[in-house]
Amino acid sequence: MVCDSGNSGNSDGMASQDSSWGSMRQTLGVDAFRITGGKPLLGEVRVSGAKNSVLKLMALSLLTQGRTQITSVPDILDVSIMSRLVTRLGARVEWERAEGILSIDVPEELEQRADYDLVRQMRASISVLGPLIARLGVADIALPGGDAIGSRGLDMHLAGLERMGAKVTSQHGYLLASAPERLKGASIWLDFPSVGATETLLMASVLAEGTTIIDNAAREPEIVDISHMLQEMGAQIDGVGTSTLIVDGVDELRPVTHETVSDRIVAGTWAVAAAMTCGDVSVRNANPHHLDIALDKLASAGAEVTHLPDGFRVRMEDRPRAVGIVTLPYPGFATDLQPQFIAMNAIAYGTAMVTENLFESRFKFVNELVRLGADVRTEAHHAIITGRESLSGAPVESHDIRAGASLVLAGLAAQGITTVTHVNHIDRGYANFVPDLQSLGADIERVSIVDPARVSG
Ligand code: UD1
Repeated sequence: MVCDSGNSGNSDGMASQDSSWGSMRQTLGVDAFRITGGKPLLGEVRVSGAKNSVLKLMALSLLTQGRTQITSVPDILDVSIMSRLVTRLGARVEWERAEGILSIDVPEELEQRADYDLVRQMRASISVLGPLIARLGVADIALPGGDAIGSRGLDMHLAGLERMGAKVTSQHGYLLASAPERLKGASIWLDFPSVGATETLLMASVLAEGTTIIDNAAREPEIVDISHMLQEMGAQIDGVGTSTLIVDGVDELRPVTHETVSDRIVAGTWAVAAAMTCGDVSVRNANPHHLDIALDKLASAGAEVTHLPDGFRVRMEDRPRAVGIVTLPYPGFATDLQPQFIAMNAIAYGTAMVTENLFESRFKFVNELVRLGADVRTEAHHAIITGRESLSGAPVESHDIRAGASLVLAGLAAQGITTVTHVNHIDRGYANFVPDLQSLGADIERVSIVDPARVSG
């Protein structure tokens, strides 16, 4: 436990790196974070724009011709991948990383095909489907397949497009969608408030002929952000932020400048990190109302949570108390914060049950947490976690973005050295993670491992 433990440890077959790690990793091998646990996080951190919004804002820039500007863009790997994809489709992208400004110049003519080499790297590539079919009347998108957290179906995206008059088939690993006559407004009921399906249908319907009603739509803040940008571009959308979206199609949209909503999952990750390390962290540029349930759970765990004019502060003085959670679509508890709360429960007083309702493989990472000494049992979509007084550092592997982040949090709270490998997953969603953690006082560095199989704690 951070509050009452001292730590020590030594190095292990890894080369310390500076900011030139990007080129070095090509030659040296797999990147890892080496963490010496036991330091409380103290200070301030600023959150950037949301990954799960900005990727869609980039995709929807394809709905119009001309220069779109997106600000508060996080410097993460997924933005690079989406930049490559929209460039492949014919747009020109300029990214001022330090300023967080991304400009996308979209020409009159666009390509219709999103290739597998990019889609397989980032499932969110599917978000170009709606804009392409709306704008070109045709789209060929590689099927993304499942990933580390689940099978991730597309049936609701496709059924909705078919209702709007599109023909959708699949061939040789590609989805072929076409609507040569322009999409037609329709009434669509989603079986489940899917984030991706709501976005695809929203982006497809803004240029459709007539009115589209999307019922049982997802209400995530990122969908509100996408809706706002579409409205600024001239789209007619009613019911933004509710589960019924009513879209009156327009003939064309215009390019705009839009600021990305702040990343509530990154903000929530900092909140849990503060609580797990008995720290005191002010999280700036964050909207605490997007995290109401998560912050309330932290308060139940014993943290002092206060709202700030531009964010919130989390302070913890003692070992957390175990808190149960159940993941649900927004405004329910976010599945993307579930791994972080499991990590916190692993060092809490008491036992908690966590129920995952969104992704069937999201408990896979628990085996890595167990390597750090956590007591977690899983049964179908439930996990029972009995808190241990402390975890003990060990080499662990990151399988996806949020699981990777939660292993880092566990490492910060563990005794001794934890090495989290395959951090390219964490890079997909967390900008500036290691420098921000260092500025809060964490003992963490980015290293490169020549042979990950030989890592020792
Ligand atoms: C998005 C987020 C992800 C977050 C999730 C839920 C991005 C890039 N990713 O993912 O970080 O965890 O929302 O908040 O924004 N499903 C179907 N058929 C469909 C659509 C979805 O069965 O047509 C299922 C999925 O397999 C999954 C569940 O519904 O089990 C939730 O999916 P969805 O809400 O669409 O999440 P994503 O958009 O994939």
